[in-house]
Order: sequence, then C-alpha cells, then structure tokens
Amino acid sequence: MALHPDFLPTGQPTVGHRRRYGTLPEEERLGVGVVGLHEGHTMLVALRSSGLCRPVAGCDLAEEKRVAALQAAPGIFVTDDYRRLLERPDVQIVAIYTPDPLHAEQIEMAFEAGKHVICTKPLINDAEQIPRLLKAQKTSRMRLQVGQSTRFYEPFQRQRELYEEGRMGEVEVLDAHYNHRMDWYYEKSPWTIADTHWAYLGLSHPVDLARWYLGPIAEVSAVGTVTTLGARYGMRTPDAISVNLIGASGRIARVLGNYGFHELPRARSLIECFLMGSSGSSLARYPDLRFTYHDEHGIELEEDYHHAMAGYYYRHELKGMHYGEFCNYADYFASKLLAGEPNSPDLEEGLQTVLVMRAIVESLETGGTVQVNAIQVSDAEL
Ligand SMILES: NC(=O)c1ccc[n+]([C@@H]2O[C@H](COP(=O)([O-])OP(=O)(O)OC[C@H]3O[C@@H](n4cnc5c(N)ncnc54)[C@H](O)[C@@H]3O)[C@@H](O)[C@H]2O)c1
Repeated sequence: MALHPDFLPTGQPTVGHRRRYGTLPEEERLGVGVVGLHEGHTMLVALRSSGLCRPVAGCDLAEEKRVAALQAAPGIFVTDDYRRLLERPDVQIVAIYTPDPLHAEQIEMAFEAGKHVICTKPLINDAEQIPRLLKAQKTSRMRLQVGQSTRFYEPFQRQRELYEEGRMGEVEVLDAHYNHRMDWYYEKSPWTIADTHWAYLGLSHPVDLARWYLGPIAEVSAVGTVTTLGARYGMRTPDAISVNLIGASGRIARVLGNYGFHELPRARSLIECFLMGSSGSSLARYPDLRFTYHDEHGIELEEDYHHAMAGYYYRHELKGMHYGEFCNYADYFASKLLAGEPNSPDLEEGLQTVLVMRAIVESLETGGTVQVNAIQVSDAEL
C-alpha cells in the first residue's frame, strides 16, 4: 500500500545550515547498499540530504520493508539475498542495520566482496569475532565506520568542537547515560530480548562517548538489575546497568542505562553527556536539540537548534528519528575515503569499545572489577 504523502518525511524546512562534508555531482557520489531496512530505512531517507553518497540498493528478508524502501528511494535495487547486494558494482559502501548478532558475518562478507562498510552500533556483540574481522580487513584493505549516531548529533558535535578548541580543558569526569523505556522495542524486535545484551545494545552510546573523551579505558565495575518491565518480557540479563569506568589516564566516568523505567523527558533527555573538564563543563542531549555550556564568566549559555534544524534531524516526524546523524556520518565517512584520511570510530576503535562492553558483562556476572584488555590477536590468527 502506497504511503500517503503526508506521512513521507519531508526534511523541510531547514532554517539552519547543516554540517557539510563536500558535494559531488549525483552520478559521482558513492553508492550505498543498505542491509536491514528498519533502521536502515532511516539511512535511505537520510541520504536525500547527502552531498557525497547516494542510495543504490537495499536488502531485507521482509517484503514490506523492501516495498517501503522503494517508496523512500525509488529506483534502487532491492533483494532479500545479501549476496546479491554484495555482487553489485554500484555498491561501494555497505551500510548494516540488521540485528546485532548478524553484524560480524555481514561485515566480513562485505570486506571480502571489496566493499567499505558502515555498521550501526553496537559494532558486534561477541568479542570472539574480533580476529576474523581484523583478518578480513587486513586481507581486503577495506575501511569501516561505526555508525555511532550520538557522536554525529548536533549538540554532541558542538560539544566536541568546544572540547577540541580547549574550552573544557582536560575531561576529568564524564557522566553519560542512555535511558529509554523499551516495551515498544521488545514488541517490534523480539531478538533484543534473548539474542543480545543491553551492555551492547544500549550502553554502546555512552560507553563510546566515555572512550571518545577519556581515551582507552583500563577498568570497569558494573552493577545491574532486571526491571519489572524487563521481567515481563522475559529478560534474563540486566536491563538496568550502572558502570564506573577508569581511563588509562586515571580520569573517570560513570555510565547508566535503564531500559525499563518511566521516562521524564522534560527533566532528563534519553541520552546526555556531561563533561566536567579542568577549564569548563558542558552538557549535550539527545533527542533534544539543545547544548548547554558556560562562558568565561561562568554565565550559562544554551544553544537551541529546534527551530533551525528539526527539518534536518527529524524531517518533521517524531523527535529523534536519526536522519541528520546518519547523513552526517555517511558523508563524513565518504569524505575521509575520498581524501584517503583516517576516519573515527574505525574498526579498531569500535572493537576497543566492544572490549569495554564485554568487560562490563563480565563485571555484571562476577560482581567484581574487570580490567579491559587491549585487542590481542596473534599473527597466526591474521
Ligand atoms: N541510534 C542508532 O544508530 C540505532 C537506533 C536503532 C537501532 N540501531 C541498530 O540497528 C540494528 C537494527 O535495529 P532495528 O531496530 O532496525 O531492528 P529491527 O528488528 O526493527 O530490524 C531488523 C531488520 O533486519 C532484517 N533482517 C534480519 N536478518 C536479515 C538478513 N539476514 N538479511 C537481510 N535483512 C535481515 C529484518 O527483516 C528487519 O527488517 C541493531 O543493531 C540496532 O542496535 C541503531
């Protein structure tokens, strides 16, 4: 059934100026093939704003997802067989949005087919898969961008800019969370109950932020509980998790994820990153397009991008549809590929974050403090 035009995302009006990473003529843009067309549908729509990429293919097992993909991006090739998407020469970047346990194999297959990869968070949810991914990358020399959407959301980009200008000094303490009631998600995607762990699925946002500012994480200590809502859906591992992290630098962070609570969106945003630095503090939020910091006199300033940028980030649907962030990281990655420059978070950085998340799971299981290992792969495995 065709969607009524009122329900197609418009992206209009965009009053403000979106971040730009360059522009190429339509036919020279990098072709993106998207696998997993629920959250991947967002990428198809997001690419309408891209200057460097264009959607060329989509893959999903479900026919209704393929039909909707064709409505969002008319003329693309659609299939239910990932191998057919990988065979296509017009696909230069594969963007993966399938359930977490499928990511490792799909990344490996994409590298082997000579494709660069964007993979949504969590990159993988099983650290045993690390050697095969490093090996596939080494053999293929293909590149990967982890789709850490939060990093690419306007308030978090602004926060990073001020940090890189030195306005926060050194981050001494970081307080980040991703709290989101998830009954709707369990109903939509039952694989989230048994086939992954909230330490990966949810904490991948705040743990990535902690690594971004603190650098390598040395040690974690976690506590968790199964909420009443989680228990109702048969969760056997904690859906509410609190973690203390110590960086190799000695600086500290705490991250919280609660997926079974009653939200208070005016009081606390779903995702927040509070940086407490030696020279300043700042707070970035999602899905609110607000960023708070202070000037040199301690006067609190709030940048509010709702009017300027809701068209780009939400395309006038619900708050928090990810369109702007997905387009930002696709264009950022394409710009780095075209310039031959490194991108972040790349495969190795993403895998370091996976090792932090694995240490969190181990801490939850043992009740103790867990050292985070660096990536260790023997030459024989490569
Ligand atoms: N902020 C973000 O960046 C963000 C937000 C939501 C979800 N995600 C991530 O996106 C991924 C997907 O989440 P979702 O909410 O869209 O899940 P979902 O269950 O709604 O959708 C997964 C889709 O993948 C398809 N699929 C499953 N196996 C497949 C296969 N072998 N080949 C092709 N298609 C296949 C399913 O038919 C389904 O349409 C997860 O890893 C999740 O963590 C990221």
